[in-house]
Amino acid sequence: MMRPIPVICDCDPGHDDAMMLLLCQASPRIRILAVTTSCGNQTIEKTTYNALRVCTLLGIRAPVAKGSPKPLFGQPITAPNIHGQSGLDGPNLPEPAVPLSPLTAVELMAQTLRQSDEPVTILSTGPMTNTAALLLAHPELKPKIAGISLMGGGIAHGNWTPAAEFNVLVDPEAADLVFRSGLPITMAGLDVTLKALITETDIRRIESISGEVARVVAQWMEFFYAFHKSIGYAGAPLHDAVAAAWLIRPELFVTQQMFVRVETQGDYCRGATIGARPGRTDQSYAPNARCILDLDRQGFVDLVCEAVASYGGAT
Ligand code: BDR
Ligand code: CA
Repeated sequence: MMRPIPVICDCDPGHDDAMMLLLCQASPRIRILAVTTSCGNQTIEKTTYNALRVCTLLGIRAPVAKGSPKPLFGQPITAPNIHGQSGLDGPNLPEPAVPLSPLTAVELMAQTLRQSDEPVTILSTGPMTNTAALLLAHPELKPKIAGISLMGGGIAHGNWTPAAEFNVLVDPEAADLVFRSGLPITMAGLDVTLKALITETDIRRIESISGEVARVVAQWMEFFYAFHKSIGYAGAPLHDAVAAAWLIRPELFVTQQMFVRVETQGDYCRGATIGARPGRTDQSYAPNARCILDLDRQGFVDLVCEAVASYGGAT
């Protein structure tokens, strides 16, 4: 039996962030040590409230801490068009029955790393503000970070602007710092996450699973899909869940080592992730990230459904 991977989940729930937490909590391959929140899909107050509600629903008992209300520079950008006014619209959720940590996100991350007897993976599925602030404030803790599995960016294109993906666009300076950190990075960008679709057929399958968690997830997916359907998608792209699924079932994914940098300037390219495959450019562009480019979609959907079913419960 392999030892579970200890993770800090840094997120901005968010429907797909909630599914990231669900996959982690359901998997014996993962041990959640802490949950920290970033401002992204909604304000920090709302994403933190959502994190507490999701942890309550899923039985996650790791400490939850609130992150920065703003990116390192500039003002927050939110996504009510996709995630609703609450940041997690759709079904009713339980009120938080888990406390908010008195620590800030960065303090909780630092304490978690210090107290762990093995290096910890940061699973980042929102803007990377907290992780960047951690690296700036506590460079001595870098050896305690096993790596960063992140949802962000896109080598081929963006989603919020033609060039930039949302998580990177909200805080490009933070993402730049993370990609330059020298830590092992796995990037689940739009190249793969737009293929991680939950279709209407998949939603019907989730609906047929018994229990409260399945009921909530089916309604989350209905809400999340409604927006994506209106812009022509064949399903709801479960972006953030890919960064968790990579840790749980890496054999489902196709990856390539690349040189990746974040563009922090420009009228059209701020927040873009620029990627170079080895051999196509000179050696000064040495790979610094493993980019996930493709997946076995059916295997991914099966993993999601198995995780939902593992919560069991009455119909
Ligand atoms: C990312 O942006 C957010 O809306 C999602 O939660 C995901 O992390 C996709 O671009
Ligand atoms: Ca997110």
